[in-house]
Amino acid sequence: MELYVDTANLDEIKKAADLGVLDGVTTNPSLIAKEGIDYGERLAEICEVVSGPVSAEVIATDYQGMMAEAATRIGIAENIVIKLPCTADGVRACKSLADQGVRTNMTLCFQPLQAWMVAKAGAFLVSPFIGRIDDIGQDGMDLIHQIRQAYDAHGYQTKLLAASIRHPKHMLDCLLAGADVATVPYKVIEGLLKHPLTDIGLEKFLADYAKAFS
Ligand code: G3P
Repeated sequence: MELYVDTANLDEIKKAADLGVLDGVTTNPSLIAKEGIDYGERLAEICEVVSGPVSAEVIATDYQGMMAEAATRIGIAENIVIKLPCTADGVRACKSLADQGVRTNMTLCFQPLQAWMVAKAGAFLVSPFIGRIDDIGQDGMDLIHQIRQAYDAHGYQTKLLAASIRHPKHMLDCLLAGADVATVPYKVIEGLLKHPLTDIGLEKFLADYAKAFS
């Protein structure tokens, strides 16, 4: 499973990239708003740090506006992926961009039929939101399992990118469910290597060694 970091914060992206296992970055308008920086400027900075796919989400909600924004964003760097909502205009823009060889990430996916439609439109990535489904008392992982089953049954090549991941248990569930990619906040990435027995074990190894040789 590939690992993307879900942030527009450059320090977090650099720290994640330093681990050596980062495959890409996803951003969205809320994440950019938190940074208070021009979207295009920040995307250019991110693409200098990360060579894998960097998702740039459109602000427009109509087909023409989406296509115009996509044309601007793809000029920033070769690894820019255009992020579009799973709406009728989004699907239409996805198809047009796919026909031009532009990669897309179809976001705000909350049901398997949206994932099917965007796969038919030639999406590079589909982003089902696990955490936001959990937030309304349903199980976000059901959506991951259903999309995986549908894509495998019909041979769709669109990559299943699990998004809205809130904690390491979501990551483990996605790994076991066969998600192709997981995009996660930096603080979740930090939690992935934490285990109290690792800390206790390391402390004991070092103490034993020091006792014997110092
Ligand atoms: O970038 C899309 C997605 O990962 C958002 O997550 O936590 O705002 O639901 P969240």
